Amino acid sequence: MNEERVPVFAPHIGVDTLKHLTDALDVGWLGMGATTKEFEERIGAFLGLRERYVVAVNTGTSAFHIALRAAGIGQGDEVITPSFNYVADHQAIRASGADVVMCDIRDGDLGMDCEKAAALITPRTKALMPLHFAGIACDRAGVYRLAESRGLRVIEDACHAFGTEIAGTRIGADGDIAVFSFDPVKVVTSIDGGCVVVGDAEERERLQRMRLLGVDKDTTERYRNRRAWEYDVVSEGYRYHLTNILASVGVSQIKRADEFIASRQAVCREYNAAFANLTWARIPASDFAGVSPFIYSLRVLSGRRGAFIEHLSSRGVDAGIHFVPVHKHTAFAGARRGDMTVTDRVIEEVVTLPLHSNMRRDRVERVIDAVVSFA
Ligand SMILES: Cc1ncc(COP(=O)(O)O)c(C=O)c1O
Repeated sequence: MNEERVPVFAPHIGVDTLKHLTDALDVGWLGMGATTKEFEERIGAFLGLRERYVVAVNTGTSAFHIALRAAGIGQGDEVITPSFNYVADHQAIRASGADVVMCDIRDGDLGMDCEKAAALITPRTKALMPLHFAGIACDRAGVYRLAESRGLRVIEDACHAFGTEIAGTRIGADGDIAVFSFDPVKVVTSIDGGCVVVGDAEERERLQRMRLLGVDKDTTERYRNRRAWEYDVVSEGYRYHLTNILASVGVSQIKRADEFIASRQAVCREYNAAFANLTWARIPASDFAGVSPFIYSLRVLSGRRGAFIEHLSSRGVDAGIHFVPVHKHTAFAGARRGDMTVTDRVIEEVVTLPLHSNMRRDRVERVIDAVVSFA
């Protein structure tokens, strides 16, 4: 059999993206500029922001780093985030100078367990960093209740949840700080990229300065595709800006975000229906209404995940694992953490099945056939 494999991720890059890209190259201003601004405006419109601001950067990881710094978090502080999360968050916390503290997750939505997070709070704790895993919202109300009662900032990891809404409001449109990623495999990609969404105009300015070496007027000048030759450096700064070229890919993609999300929701629902009655598996705790699904995460019970992944592979279907929990990584094994009962079980169960925007019919069918034929 010489059938093409079904990959876990597949970018949806059409001629529209190529056109945006060549148009951006033609302008002759490759760095941060007017297209970066346009991408930020389109992100704001897509999320339905009112009196909230978008600052685009080169990765989600750098977005976390400057979000923490703009919120005044650094040395001597602690930030609580799940171990069941991508290590980008933990590295960004460390880069800010703060200490990582890891909490457990809930068994249903696989998001932060607020009771367990509460037990980890000390006078040094400054922020909670919850993840909306796979695009499915965590216990957001619980997170904000806890943060308000203990005077903490919230930096939402919404990297998996660009477009997910709760009661008609998209994540990022309210609350404290939200961070998104537009990396190569995300629902909307700018090849690499990310952004911070904040509600405080001063924090926005701090973010704008920090993303480009602490220079005071670079954002306003570069948004006109030109540079300031006289400037001051007024704060700490990094080279985290998003270029016009990458932003042009983001603009092309965000124009189609609703279409991408709807197509992914349809596949997730089809998977749910096909897998609901499998006795050895657990489907995601969602009907995907209002969800922008980044991945489809099936849980394989009774220690059979390895055999399941091998079975899929023998049928030409790739599978992923999100995540290796961060408390198992060498660099973070010594970080303070609480009880990890749910995390330690879930990480033996989760399998990421292929999910693409406008996924080809034959690929959807091959995934379903491969999964249901596992006995
Ligand atoms: C949950 C989560 N957090 C953070 C990140 C970091 O984003 P980036 O890859 O854009 O730096 C990612 C990206 O994979 C992610 O999935």
